[in-house]
Amino acid sequence: MPITAAQSAFPQGFVWGVSTASYQIEGAVDADGRGTSIWDTFSHTPGRVYNGDTGDRACDHYHRLDEDLDLIASLGIGSYRFSIAWPRIQPDGRGPANQAGLDFYRRLVDGLRSRGVTATPTLYHWDLPQALEDAGGWVARETAERFGEYARIVAEALGDGVERWITLNEPWCSAWHGYGNGLHAPGQTDPGAAAAATHHLMLAHGRAVSALRDASASGVGITLNLVPVRAASEDPADLAAARRLDGNANRLWLDSIFEGHYPEDMLEHYAGMTPGFSVVQDGDLAAICAPLDFLGINYYSPALVADPSSAERARTEGLVASRVESEPATDELGVLRLGHAGTDRTAMGWEIEPAGLTELLRRVDRDYDIPPIYITENGAAYYDYLDPEGRVLDDERIAYIDSHIGAVADAMEAGVDVRGYFCWSLLDNFEWGRGYSKRFGLVYIDYPTGTRIPKKSYAWYRDLVAANRAVPV
Ligand code: FCB
Repeated sequence: MPITAAQSAFPQGFVWGVSTASYQIEGAVDADGRGTSIWDTFSHTPGRVYNGDTGDRACDHYHRLDEDLDLIASLGIGSYRFSIAWPRIQPDGRGPANQAGLDFYRRLVDGLRSRGVTATPTLYHWDLPQALEDAGGWVARETAERFGEYARIVAEALGDGVERWITLNEPWCSAWHGYGNGLHAPGQTDPGAAAAATHHLMLAHGRAVSALRDASASGVGITLNLVPVRAASEDPADLAAARRLDGNANRLWLDSIFEGHYPEDMLEHYAGMTPGFSVVQDGDLAAICAPLDFLGINYYSPALVADPSSAERARTEGLVASRVESEPATDELGVLRLGHAGTDRTAMGWEIEPAGLTELLRRVDRDYDIPPIYITENGAAYYDYLDPEGRVLDDERIAYIDSHIGAVADAMEAGVDVRGYFCWSLLDNFEWGRGYSKRFGLVYIDYPTGTRIPKKSYAWYRDLVAANRAVPV
């Protein structure tokens, strides 16, 4: 039995945190010289986002910064992970910094410090300046160079207040949802473009690492959404399908960052597509595999896959087709995504499987020479509501988080070096293509008024953090 989080003792210094991202919470899209991002354009395009929701107002975090900083501090956590909106810093993605944009994040970083919480900023959580998209976006090499410049500006302006930098959040999503299946901004559907975007995102990461090192940043890492992939059977065709998804979702990123090459099977798979990986130039991989201080992993759910030819057999074995949005949709891979009929799922439709996190951590630790790991996102959406007393009693979320923290403890017991856990998310927020229909927060947002109502899970997490802080090594 996995130990439950409440009982497990994490070592002293283990970092407890919560995560958010700029476009999902800030609102104030026209404030203080902010430029337009691809998510502004995408969310304002009819039919792209559920209910026509946009991030125009979101949680209005930009105007409620102090209130949100107090909510963070009252959790007693060690660190807050947020992201910096590139178009607030460089409205068109190039050229001199917009001082008002830097000032906002300076207030955020200083506000954290005065409350005893460290800053874990992400430089890119998907809000690319629209002007750069108009010039080719991540399919163009130029965007990687611009990202390096942007990283340099931010590192110099905020470096003294930051404990831990994350270059990119989930580049898989930027490349494959953004350019492959079109579920995310900018909404393109071209696997050859997605493969090129994969490389340019990795190159951008390399450029940012170099800029951060030049600014003497100490904690530098990247956040990947990695997936434990299981084949539906031992049938060679299903095993091959699982290997293809593993290549696209995991090895493309891990092999390039930690071993300095792209996996051969993936290069072969995308060889016929243009521009694909033909955009790779000499020296790029050396930049991409520059040493890191940590690896950030986001985990929500595992993947069960088969070859499309196995569909009928899988059905008779009680497996159901799963085309859940936000899962790696991978038609070009020829992979059938499956799920177990009748298992527990979150409101996203994602199967709940904490053991998948232990398995994933052990696999990454076994197969790669990696630095310490932080879980930079983990959490769950549920259909939260205010009860007659005005409370949100989200016991399902508590159970989800508790079991996943237990899964982290299991991996640590097995020798994996995990240094922290950040819960997604502090606040209910704009859940990308799902708009405001999915609530992940420890704090409920009443969107019409912006009122913040801490859920039961908020108090539970605060108590868990306090209890574990009290435990000596
Ligand atoms: C991750 C994203 C994050 C949030 C969670 C639910 O893929 O990084 O912004 O939307 O999923």
